[in-house]
Amino acid sequence: KAGLKYFGAATDTPGQRERAGLQAAYTQYDAILHDPKQFGQTTPTNGMKWLFTEPAPGVFNFTEGEVVADLARDTGKLLRCHALVWHNQLAPWVESTTWTPDTLRAAIVRHVSAVAGHWKGRCYAWDVVNEALDEDGTYRKSLFYTVLGEEYIKLAFQAAAEADPGAKLYYNDYGIERPASVKTAGARRIVKMLKDAGVRIDGVGMQAHLHADNHPSMQDHVDTMSAYAALGVSEVAFTELDVRITEPVNETKLAWQADSYRNVAVACTKVKQCVGITVWDFYDPFSWIPVTFPGEGAGLLWFEDFKPHPAVKAMVDAFGEV
Ligand code: G3I
Repeated sequence: KAGLKYFGAATDTPGQRERAGLQAAYTQYDAILHDPKQFGQTTPTNGMKWLFTEPAPGVFNFTEGEVVADLARDTGKLLRCHALVWHNQLAPWVESTTWTPDTLRAAIVRHVSAVAGHWKGRCYAWDVVNEALDEDGTYRKSLFYTVLGEEYIKLAFQAAAEADPGAKLYYNDYGIERPASVKTAGARRIVKMLKDAGVRIDGVGMQAHLHADNHPSMQDHVDTMSAYAALGVSEVAFTELDVRITEPVNETKLAWQADSYRNVAVACTKVKQCVGITVWDFYDPFSWIPVTFPGEGAGLLWFEDFKPHPAVKAMVDAFGEV
């Protein structure tokens, strides 16, 4: 199956799951999550983010992230670690500080060194910089970019490489799955910028938050991945896959969704740099989608009653075909 190493599911720490009141479902949920035949990899959806890991300047807390890191170890899964430098879910003190270039450089290096250093040797890969691009492919005007320009990206990758030399270092973003999009071009520019500067980047993570109505074709995925690989990254991965549906959910839309999942699975087996696919959780009630896009949902692989979506069979068949 070309370079495919894993098929995985991200998960949250129990206290953070979106739908409180579903405690009765946790036993069934955990049975699927822990089963190594279902998922060979996991990612914490929240617990390694800045908000949790450095809640006060220089004060680190790894409790939330440890829950998923331990689960990966105990159930024999590869661990993808997420995310070191992101404009979202920052600790409030980061947003309320008045930064100079020097103080922000120091804060980024301290954060990346401490967090990547803490999990050294346990992360198969790190999403070092997450979502640095705007929809038009230019840099997002985050506080990091506003104070430091693209230097912050180099700094984060350099610090991560020093802190955990064995982890694969990724640039990760959404909307970078289609070959001709301006945002995909932006992601290619970031890879090239780092390569030209002699800074190590190993992979591009395509989050792949897709929509069943209008999803990339198998060939789109192959072309996009091939273009990243041509820039010299040794890996690409689908890091946060889900395929949302506009309600009401019906068989036609579930069939489009199954196609979309199948396209990702088949494409990943065709490109040797594609190391894996991670769904962004697998159980619909724990998905971020309905919270962010009211009227949309059912984007994952198991319905609330634990029946599998048609996409499950589509993916199993896709992996079996190759
Ligand atoms: O911590 C509280 C918890 O105490 C409370 O019970 C619960 C009630 O809803 O809310 C909890 O906080 C939520 C947190 O998820 C944990 O569930 C936040 O309000 C909510 O904003 C947060 O959403 C996360 C989102 O990133 C933030 O932008 C999602 O779970 C997480 O799946 C999502 O993941 C991102 C990736 O990191 C990057 N790419 C996009 C992807 C989807 O947005």
